[in-house]
Amino acid sequence: MLSSIFAWRWLAQAMPLEPGHHSVLHPAAPQAGHIEWLYWLIFWILFSVFVLMIAAFGRAGAKARVRGDRAFPIIEDEEGDRRASWAVGTALGVTVVTLFVVLVLSVVTGKRVEGLTSKNPVTIQITARQWWWEVTYPNSQADQTITTANEIHIPTGTPVVVLTNSKDVIHSFWAPNITGKRDLLPGYSSAFWFEVDKPGIYHGQCAEFCGLQHAHMGFSIIAESNDNFQAWQQQQLKPAADPQTAEAIRGRQVFLQNACLMCHTIRGTDAGSHLGPDLTHIASRNMIAAETLPNTSGTLAGWIVDPQRIKPGARMSPNPLAPDDLQALVTYLRGLQ
Ligand code: CUA
Repeated sequence: MLSSIFAWRWLAQAMPLEPGHHSVLHPAAPQAGHIEWLYWLIFWILFSVFVLMIAAFGRAGAKARVRGDRAFPIIEDEEGDRRASWAVGTALGVTVVTLFVVLVLSVVTGKRVEGLTSKNPVTIQITARQWWWEVTYPNSQADQTITTANEIHIPTGTPVVVLTNSKDVIHSFWAPNITGKRDLLPGYSSAFWFEVDKPGIYHGQCAEFCGLQHAHMGFSIIAESNDNFQAWQQQQLKPAADPQTAEAIRGRQVFLQNACLMCHTIRGTDAGSHLGPDLTHIASRNMIAAETLPNTSGTLAGWIVDPQRIKPGARMSPNPLAPDDLQALVTYLRGLQ
């Protein structure tokens, strides 16, 4: 019976979701499914309230027109008053009961989303920064730890436990197709979990105002088959590829002789700072600057030269490199698969 009132759900889901869009109405994980269920329930309750309100207004309006000629002087109408009191009292009671039902269902949904699982989860540490996401796959062996940024690879059909933290201010991790919002608080670790059934790229966004570039603090969850996930992990565990051409070799020199190495890590080189994203496998990512730009040679060059023009306030300073140096640097970085 409940499913019939969710008829519109199929309509919403029948509408194709464009790549890159978020949607609470296209759940890809049980957690988002629970939230969607609550969404539709509240939607229909509010829709019914709206219809009843309009009907009541219409009825009151019609009555007022009929009685227009005897509005003054005010007529004592005890029977009418009693009926009005009863109607208002009933409406108040129904409102309170409805609000309690919604409250209880919200709590139940919260519990269903939280419910912990223990079957061999993949654990991911996500640390929010102004304005990007550091993504680590912790391992007791340091050389088996993967560090990347903004793109979170996960296997489908496997629970994923996310440990959260923030380096600066409060951020909020929100991938509407996957699960609800989670605040990331500086100096405070918390955890939540989700499991994605359908392979795909699910976009997320920081959902807590965190400064100038809050709107450019996106991420994506890339859900793939277990084999693809394992292959990705093996690739990410490798140190950076050695440059193969003269230009790429020069590019690595440019990287190591300029400000780049003050903030970034490229494993296998002398660059080991963790202020900015780890670039060991930068070329394997779809986007740069926290989902702000597609990862191409042109956007990468533009970002390196003047990030402040693209994301004013970002922690990365401009790098006015000579054109040849810039070209070589981009060639090197584009080779870091
Ligand atoms: Cu981070 Cu808004």
